[in-house]
Amino acid sequence: KKVVLAYSGGLDTSIILKWLEDTYGCEVVTFTADLGQGEELEPARAKAEQMGVKEIYIEDLREEFVRDYVFPMFRANTIYEGEYLLGTSIARPLIAKRLVEIANATGADAISHGATGKGNDQVRFELGAYALKPGVKVIAPWREWDLLSREKLMAYAKEHNIPVDFAKQGKKSPYSMDANLLHISYEGGLLEDPWAEPEEEMWRWSVSPEAAPDTPTYIDLTYEKGDIVAIDGERLKPHEVLEKLNKLGGANGIGRLDIVENRYVGMKSRGAYETPGGTIMLKAHRAIESITLDREVAHLKDELMPRYAEMIYNGYWWSPERQLLQNMIDESQEVVNGKVRVKLYKGNVIPVGRASEDTLFDENIATFEDDAGAYDQKDAAGFIKLNALRLRIAAQKGRKLG
Ligand code: ARG
Ligand code: SIN
Repeated sequence: KKVVLAYSGGLDTSIILKWLEDTYGCEVVTFTADLGQGEELEPARAKAEQMGVKEIYIEDLREEFVRDYVFPMFRANTIYEGEYLLGTSIARPLIAKRLVEIANATGADAISHGATGKGNDQVRFELGAYALKPGVKVIAPWREWDLLSREKLMAYAKEHNIPVDFAKQGKKSPYSMDANLLHISYEGGLLEDPWAEPEEEMWRWSVSPEAAPDTPTYIDLTYEKGDIVAIDGERLKPHEVLEKLNKLGGANGIGRLDIVENRYVGMKSRGAYETPGGTIMLKAHRAIESITLDREVAHLKDELMPRYAEMIYNGYWWSPERQLLQNMIDESQEVVNGKVRVKLYKGNVIPVGRASEDTLFDENIATFEDDAGAYDQKDAAGFIKLNALRLRIAAQKGRKLG
């Protein structure tokens, strides 16, 4: 019996590692990924080795994460419940996929993760794993064990000789956090009171809008098929784009969010997020689409977007419905080429220019000056009259409004 564990190298997943061996008598394979969370991976390797793990997978997935998950999602202008940019949600399908691939490569029949039984993450990991490996066994220790307090966890670690870095535990953040190239999230602690404003010290990636520079930063973003391929003319890989936008956004107080959201499992949950680069990408993508997309295509995308967001939030990345929508979204992006200039200023992302070879914007038609017959204003009278026909009939028949 072998199980592949999504392993961070932290205390909680180290306890899970030991607990899996003890409870199931199984061999554990660890998988640790760099998704841009800004933590060294080598300590996770050392810790796994120290705990006697024989098969250790450590991978840099930053490029794949942004290219194949984050960018496709941003092509849809995706936001959940009008606010959340899905930073954690979008990373889970990639982790689920790698867990399954590593299980197949090592002959493991089970996967395991450190998500609790109360959240969205368990659903995302497990739906993904079942979709990609239907016979897989899933072990979610947080749903099984009784180590439900910090004290019990520490006692378990002590009893089983799991190395605990007490200095690190001492300065442990009071929040449950998750970070990758798209965002850093904070839940729990003080945030469990929805009235309590997050303390300034909580935020790690951005300055407050008040503390941001008094002079704006301008950047030019080049788009190909709906994806940013260059910043200020410099061609970059997808993860480099996001890294750079995170720095620029964070320095200008962009991308902080404080919300109460509806989890898939039914409860409401307070979360704070920093998504500096993603916040810039969302605004800029809408700006390039505004000149390149047909009106009805744009509106149809907007109608479907909340459904698409829900699929990702609820853990259905690996599903036929998400695939179907993605194909449609990707096709719409064929013409989404060109560049956008945005101004970053004290928490704001302000598009100030857009240009494209594929533009549908026609200055001759749109002008308030003489358009030399490009648009016949007389046509508008009939257009309005026919659209008013049913309204007039209803009024004539005595239907009352208001
Ligand atoms: N509430 C957010 C979501 O569902 C963030 C979850 C954070 N996960 C974590 N393991 N700390 O996507
Ligand atoms: C967890 O429960 O492990 C984190 C929160 C979530 O998944 O929603």
